[in-house]
Amino acid sequence: MTDKRPQAPADDASRESSVPEAVRREAEELRRELHRHNYLYYVLDRPEIGDDEYDRLFARLKELEARYPELVTPDSPTQRVGAEPAEGFETVEHVAPLLSLDSTQDPAEVARFDERIRKALGTGHEPVYVLEPKLDGASIELVYEDGVLVRGVTRGNGFVGEAVTANVRTIPTVPLRLRTEERPAPRMLAVRGEVMMYISDFLAFNAELEARGLEPYASPRNSAAGALRQLDPRVTASRKLVAFVYDVLAVEGATFRRDWEGLAALVAWGFKTPERAQRARTVDEILAYHRSWEEARDHLDYEIDGVVIKLDDLSAREALGATSHHPRWALAFKFAPRQAVTRVLDIQVQVGRTGVLTPVAILEPVVIGGVTVSRASLHNREEVRRKDIRVGDRVRIQRAGDVIPQVVEVVDREGERGPPFEMPTECPACGTPVVEDGPRTVCPNRFGCPAQLKARIVYYASRQALDIEGLGEETAVLLVDHGLVRELADLYDLRPEDLMELEGFAEKSAHALVEAIQATKRPPLERFLVALGIPEVGVAVARTLAEHFGSLECIRHATREELEAVEGIGPKMSEAITAFFADERNARAIDAILAKGVEPVAPESVAVDRGAAGTAVFTGTIPVPRATAEAAWRSVGGRTASSVSRKTDFVVAGENPGSKLEKAQRLGVPVLDFQAFVEKVRELGGDVPGAD
Ligand code: IVH
Repeated sequence: MTDKRPQAPADDASRESSVPEAVRREAEELRRELHRHNYLYYVLDRPEIGDDEYDRLFARLKELEARYPELVTPDSPTQRVGAEPAEGFETVEHVAPLLSLDSTQDPAEVARFDERIRKALGTGHEPVYVLEPKLDGASIELVYEDGVLVRGVTRGNGFVGEAVTANVRTIPTVPLRLRTEERPAPRMLAVRGEVMMYISDFLAFNAELEARGLEPYASPRNSAAGALRQLDPRVTASRKLVAFVYDVLAVEGATFRRDWEGLAALVAWGFKTPERAQRARTVDEILAYHRSWEEARDHLDYEIDGVVIKLDDLSAREALGATSHHPRWALAFKFAPRQAVTRVLDIQVQVGRTGVLTPVAILEPVVIGGVTVSRASLHNREEVRRKDIRVGDRVRIQRAGDVIPQVVEVVDREGERGPPFEMPTECPACGTPVVEDGPRTVCPNRFGCPAQLKARIVYYASRQALDIEGLGEETAVLLVDHGLVRELADLYDLRPEDLMELEGFAEKSAHALVEAIQATKRPPLERFLVALGIPEVGVAVARTLAEHFGSLECIRHATREELEAVEGIGPKMSEAITAFFADERNARAIDAILAKGVEPVAPESVAVDRGAAGTAVFTGTIPVPRATAEAAWRSVGGRTASSVSRKTDFVVAGENPGSKLEKAQRLGVPVLDFQAFVEKVRELGGDVPGAD
């Protein structure tokens, strides 16, 4: 009994041999087929099989993967449905900066751009331009290593963004593995593209949100950007996103001399690229291209806001270089914003979160670019006076992207006109005499004005703050008008019975809202800071404060000097922040919220859940595909990351390791060779397929 012990743990041995070769081959074949049909359907719009057949193949692959979990690779089509929720996104540096574009609406500027380029190229060099539609979506970087998608990163500030890889994987037009029928996959490829939502899908999605009593998104772009930043990839998967890729940011193992070649390679690798991209040599051709898209625009199912003009020759691009935020070799030639003419039915005055009174034109509904507009901001009393806008006037309104529609001008005052608009002298919500602050009119009753409280509740619950589903404007109005909420802290005392008394609430929705509110009791600190509505503190500043100070108490007690010592925080912000916390009524309101058991959680403890086994980063060539090694590490409860930071637990260095190895050594992060990594995985009960 004792002399015949198995050499290796039985577990290991059985794993090695547990996938019969035939099954492995079948899974591989299924993956290949599913990728192909996915590509035919989503990218080429030319399906060869019906949904039933696709579902059958998909179900079979899922079945095999369920039986043999080691068959699951990160690029398997089954991985598109969405992984487990993340606790936060890692911030990573882009392979190359995602610069923005210089833009104009003026054809004369386009001619000057062409002149500058000609001058820079010198005589004898005629420029060739690549022309593409300018897609109005959320910019993204995708990185492939050995043909496999390893990272998707939001634009962020252009230099660093958030790694939203699991979310990007759910987008059907993003290849999880590059197609290699026409050209081999490069060692490394970083591309830039735009994540969009088709207008038809956007309208359907908004209709659904509204039906559920939720706040609709302002534009397809907002909706796409919001979907990309969902912590739960399954939510992203449920939104219909589409990604267009238009630029090779960096490539190793292939060379391009022209953008046009890069574009052709992107097509060959299976990306969806902008429609009707073309080359041009003259300004006239550029103007004609612009005109043709402007005409096509209203019949398109996605938003574009102009065309992009890019120099084709890549070495000339390099010679021209970039300013700090845009390249000199490209120009966005934008369309005039969308406008329509309609009638002013009424002018109402809204009181915002900070007490500012805003006149709002109530309009005869009109559709601009697929969106129905029935209200437009009139900004302030000066603006209404200057434009002399009155009830009964026909006005030109403009909707530019996701901006709140605006009244551009009065086009006809012939109808029956109301009297000139007067700003009320008392707050329409609480009757307090208003005060003038420059062009603004403000209700000074910060803590007693019901309109301000309603707006604060809406803001507290909004997406960028605590994201409380079902707590939109309508509900906030009901809660305040029925006396159920007198300050933010009262939200936490709401009971389903209270809500069921309110119009539009049933048992289920009442319970759901109470649960949604209670679920925000451990909010990420940065979101809680946003929710408080501190002047000058938006999402980015809140994040900086949270990361730097680590606790609400530290931020509340920080001096102006301490605040200004933080990068990105200037005197104006430090003053606003200290004044906010010094106000006793604010302090009491915050204490009241904390007394309900709300505990904001500092960034480290939120975002840095490393998984039990720790975070591994790979560099250099290892004996198995990197994706396989990463999948193996994740299968034993570890996490993987693409760049080395202090949060990295160890780096696996293969042959010809890159700069990640140096960085690891600099930061004192342990470095393992591949064999040691395999042993580590085995110690944790897993295995690395293909390793001996
Ligand atoms: S080229 C640096 N091409 O427009 C030049 N950009 O402000 C690389 N965009 O956020 C960009 N469609 O994401 C390029 N066909 C296209 C584009 C495009 C949309 C976006 C880009 C950026 C914005 C420019």
